[in-house]
Amino acid sequence: MSLLTVRDLSVEFDTRDGLVRAVNGVSFDLDAGQALALLGESGSGKSVTLRAILGLHGHARTRVAGEVVVKGRDVNRLDERARQGLRGGVVSMVFQEPMTALDPVYTIGAQIVETLLQHRDLDRDAARRRARELLDLVQVPSPERCLASYPHEISGGMRQRAMIAIALACEPELLLADEPTTALDVTVQAQILWLLRDLQKRLGLAVIFVTHDLGVAAEIADAAAVMYAGRIVEQAPIRELFQRPAHPYTEGLMQATVRRGQKGQALVPIPGAPPNLAALPPGCAFAPRCARVRDECVAAPPAVHTVGPGHLARCHLVPERFGRPRTEPLSIAVNLDQGGSA
Ligand SMILES: Nc1ncnc2c1ncn2[C@@H]1O[C@H](COP(=O)(O)OP(=O)(O)O)[C@@H](O)[C@H]1O
Ligand code: SF4
Ligand SMILES: [Mg+2]
Repeated sequence: MSLLTVRDLSVEFDTRDGLVRAVNGVSFDLDAGQALALLGESGSGKSVTLRAILGLHGHARTRVAGEVVVKGRDVNRLDERARQGLRGGVVSMVFQEPMTALDPVYTIGAQIVETLLQHRDLDRDAARRRARELLDLVQVPSPERCLASYPHEISGGMRQRAMIAIALACEPELLLADEPTTALDVTVQAQILWLLRDLQKRLGLAVIFVTHDLGVAAEIADAAAVMYAGRIVEQAPIRELFQRPAHPYTEGLMQATVRRGQKGQALVPIPGAPPNLAALPPGCAFAPRCARVRDECVAAPPAVHTVGPGHLARCHLVPERFGRPRTEPLSIAVNLDQGGSA
């Protein structure tokens, strides 16, 4: 059984500008211990997807449809207390900017201890010892000093390590990391990424890692799902995605990303901007920006096609460009929604 199964997930926001379809029929599976990168430009629905996995879209003007099943339990059918239990025990999240997630008036130590007391059966002394162990685990060089510090007294990199320690306090099986490095400078970004990779391997954690940077995905993910305008448009094992990107949007992302060994090569940004999610076009949402666009793309939304084992893409041109797959998909980390309707 998968650790996480997402089936036909849709999240819509009722706004003044109309119904915003932030996530539109997203489906995938994640096994224990696997790292999945969720890729795509800003506004493609990555954060909204992660929040839906945590069951955080409780607002009256938000409509959530589909299934998010964590260890056999559908998050959308649990009451709030059970959801909190899930968030405290099985799934944890690391946010992009730890300054907004940490409480400025409590020390790092107090915040880790509080999390432990809430979610684990420990007394205060044992929680203090565990807090120190957690800071060792996330490789904070001076754990005692960090425990006694307020969030503003430590560097951005240390704050992010402290956030990861808090996320690990409940011994989760799935860690959701929402662009955990974008607020940091490049050297510290690399350190945090390697820390996450190391923790994933050592603790057997499953990780969903949100980034708009394909280089980052290549470093730490087993598989990737590329999102555009609220949909997964391509998914593949990570090497396969780099060797054989099948969706023109993925190709565009690759040309817009600095990759190892390509220093000095000019970046080619994807022209245009993502569509208005309150007024999606009837055909392929990428059509206005796509270098390969044809008449059929504007007329009808593309279905999902198999490119190869574990490799799927939502583009009309896949059968013509890649032919019929030689083999049926093997066991895959992520499945796209097989339906083609918008
Ligand atoms: N609470 C909300 N109300 C209305 N629109 C929202 C809300 N949250 C997110 N959105 C919209 O949903 C889309 C996807 O957002 P998000 O998932 O945050 O993108 P990203 O891929 O950058 O993480 C964006 O267009 C965003 O403006
Ligand atoms: S379906 Fe057409 S417009 Fe959409 S990505 Fe494929 S080629 Fe481009
Ligand atoms: Mg986001």
